[in-house]
Amino acid sequence: MYILGIESSCDETAAAVLRDDQAVLASTINSQVAIHALYGGVVPELASRQHLQNIYPVVDEALHQADLTLEQIDLLAVTEGPGLVGCLLVGHAFARALALAKGIPLVGVDHLAGHLYSVFLSDRQPEFPFVAMLASGGHTSLFLASSFTEFHLLGRSRDDAAGEAFDKVAKLLGLGYPGGPVISRLAEGGNPAAIKFPRAWLDKESLDFSFSGLKTAVANLVNQLPPAELAPRVNDICAAFQEAVVEVIVGKTLQAAITTGCRRVVLAGGVAANPRLRAQLTAAGEKNGLEIFLTPGEYCTDNAAMIALAGYYRFRGATGLPADSDVYSRSRFS
Ligand code: KG4
Ligand code: ZN
Repeated sequence: MYILGIESSCDETAAAVLRDDQAVLASTINSQVAIHALYGGVVPELASRQHLQNIYPVVDEALHQADLTLEQIDLLAVTEGPGLVGCLLVGHAFARALALAKGIPLVGVDHLAGHLYSVFLSDRQPEFPFVAMLASGGHTSLFLASSFTEFHLLGRSRDDAAGEAFDKVAKLLGLGYPGGPVISRLAEGGNPAAIKFPRAWLDKESLDFSFSGLKTAVANLVNQLPPAELAPRVNDICAAFQEAVVEVIVGKTLQAAITTGCRRVVLAGGVAANPRLRAQLTAAGEKNGLEIFLTPGEYCTDNAAMIALAGYYRFRGATGLPADSDVYSRSRFS
């Protein structure tokens, strides 16, 4: 069975072909980073227009890479939400048109489920149940995943998402967009202990997060330093900021494992590409007798292979979805 996945929830137009043994036959991504970098963040209207332009070539390229035609595709999976509605609509309209024209079943996928199960695109796969830490540009959430279609929210960010904090701090430092990759690179040359930024642990039992205070602390420091003094401290600021984020994510993830009694822990989402976070969570896992499963680097940020995979399991769990099954654009999932 071949599954064609389509993702267009934010600023990446992506398509992928997955075989039902979970082999990724093709994964193509058209990133709009260069366009949005000019504005320091994603401009929704521009993103929708780019998706419109790119979706056909991206899907075509994925089929070409997989050496398959549309006639050989058995299932279509498209991101249903959460995301930018104008962007989601492009993916839906395209997927629905393909489904109707070719009589291929279509399933809608929760973008977060895509991230959560992207770890199954790795050679080393966890058994259920597991605790999943999902840190991306839009979400910072802890889940308890008990099957391919069931996951329960344990805690989430009350304000900024971790990736959003990286992006905002990069903007404050004039480092461009997206912030995560550039901050983690500059942090390598800095001292994480040089500045003590606040960590928001919230209530003792809480598995929620808060990153807005940390962002404000960085802004206050940046605003009080004259430009000549700021430049030599950028590496230290990046390292100290990153350390504050990593420490809280690792701490809360360990706490979730203890609270649920679950020894398996998965790290997913764009921020999961961060080398310091990967290393610190792995070390904490070893120290505390937990099995840590890291999403492969290439599947941490938005991609369609994860949508194809989550779509495949959703389809298997359902009883024969019709070709024109209802797929809706939803900016938020409650
Ligand atoms: O999962 P993703 O591609 O999109 C969403 O669903 O939000 O995540 C994008 C986020 C951005 O905020 C980006 O700055 C962050 O992931 N990111 C990183 C790194 N690479 C990407 N954050 C920290 N360190 C990284 N190496
Ligand atoms: Zn995402």
